[in-house]
Amino acid sequence: AVERTLSIVKPDAVAGNHIGEIYSRFETAGLRIIAARMLHLSQEQAEGFYAVHRERPFFRDLVKFMTSGPVMVQVLEGEHAIRKNREIMGATNPAEAAAGTIRHDFAETLDANAVHGSDAPETAREEIAFFFGDDELHSRN
Ligand code: CMP
Repeated sequence: AVERTLSIVKPDAVAGNHIGEIYSRFETAGLRIIAARMLHLSQEQAEGFYAVHRERPFFRDLVKFMTSGPVMVQVLEGEHAIRKNREIMGATNPAEAAAGTIRHDFAETLDANAVHGSDAPETAREEIAFFFGDDELHSRN
């Protein structure tokens, strides 16, 4: 089925000048970018976006990192977009990410891991709505 997923190019990968290379990987994998925006997350935005992790020990560092510089936020659309995006991102910890994945090739640490991608249909819906209105999604379908 055609799905949509929320993707973020994190501050480390934006600072590293890897936006284009990462977008290329989405497109090569057959995912379409149907919405995109560059923004510097406020503390409130980062805390809200990662609210599910509020009680986790890494929450403070995660919010600090995600507000450390601009990010690119995009909606990807395609067949099995959620799973496909997670495959091309690689494991959350770059040290465990398979060769050829985005995190293997561009990421350094668990926080500075280059990209975020929704993990399930329900979170994808919530995360897309966090950043984009329906009228900002330029679907081909
Ligand atoms: P992301 O997919 O953006 O979702 C939450 C982020 O928390 C995750 O990627 C990592 O960058 C970061 N993080 C830091 N420590 C951990 C951890 N122990 N487990 C999972 N995620 C972590």
